[in-house]
Amino acid sequence: MIEKQLWHPVTASHRVREAPVAVELLGKPLVLWREPGHEGAPGVVHAWADRCPHRGASLSLGRVLNHLHGARLECPYHGWQFGGDTAAQQAVVPVAVGRCVHVPAAPLFEPPASHCATVFEAVERHGLVWVRLQRPDRTHVPAALTEPPAFEPWSDPLWRQVLCGPYEVNTSAPRLVENFLDLSHFGFVHEGWLGERSHAQVETGRVEEGADGLVARDCKAWQPRAYAGASEGSFIAYRYTVPHPFAAVLRKDAAEGDPVSNAIALFIRPDSAASCTAWFAMATLGDLSDDEELRAFQDAVFAQDRPIVESQVPKTLPIGQDGPIAEVHSPADRMSSAYRRFLARLGVSLGVC
Ligand code: FES
Ligand code: CO
Repeated sequence: MIEKQLWHPVTASHRVREAPVAVELLGKPLVLWREPGHEGAPGVVHAWADRCPHRGASLSLGRVLNHLHGARLECPYHGWQFGGDTAAQQAVVPVAVGRCVHVPAAPLFEPPASHCATVFEAVERHGLVWVRLQRPDRTHVPAALTEPPAFEPWSDPLWRQVLCGPYEVNTSAPRLVENFLDLSHFGFVHEGWLGERSHAQVETGRVEEGADGLVARDCKAWQPRAYAGASEGSFIAYRYTVPHPFAAVLRKDAAEGDPVSNAIALFIRPDSAASCTAWFAMATLGDLSDDEELRAFQDAVFAQDRPIVESQVPKTLPIGQDGPIAEVHSPADRMSSAYRRFLARLGVSLGVC
């Protein structure tokens, strides 16, 4: 399953502090824990299977120990201790991360390599922790998809960054991506906010399809109020990129008379074939509203989308015409058709572990 070979966001970075956190990715229970920081810098985050190799208890019920010989995760049941990066480095003989380093009930026992938690790769990007369940098979995974998706405005010091979410949604990740790429619902679902039904026509622009994603330029839709201070509606040009099957980025650059540049990335954790959790990483240059106002606006817009996307049947995206339920298209759906071809090329099936 190719989804296991891709990076997925699992939680906001700020949620992983002193205590371990339980999350689920593609049906797989994980424990996230952070090593204690050093001189103001946050410690590294680990993502392991949420199951102790001793008797199967949930490691997420345990606690993080700042041991003299490096950070460890202690199982809640019999107190076995499993080493993080620093413990692995400081061992007399180098050991793998996740290895049991201490059994309190048998303190002289030296646990062999088999006494090890199941360790996955974890990195932090764009305010989120990203996890990959399997190493990529390079014949099937394009090089660009061997990293978490890029989102440059998140690390640009001139821009302001605000993370919105999580939104737990009762539909599949691809349905949500497609909704994000869909300009033609603005005048109906977001009437008065992002569109007007009296100006429902859209321009789908130019769509470039590559092995590693999509880019769509000059997509245009009517906005009743394109930015704070605008007195009337106008057509706004957007650029969309789809750098990952479950991520999409919308960018609107400042234009004549419109001083605001916005970039919004949708990042989604696929929880199952019919449910997912989403975040919006928003970056803005020139928007004067404060962080809470930006979040409140995004929450309100998403509250308009939610009942619609949760009503869609089936919850997985019907790709091609072979499924039991086919869907039909119009010329305004060019981006969603390209997105479905991208998923088909990659072989995204959205099975669970
Ligand atoms: Fe974890 Fe026994 S089940 S230490
Ligand atoms: Co919408």
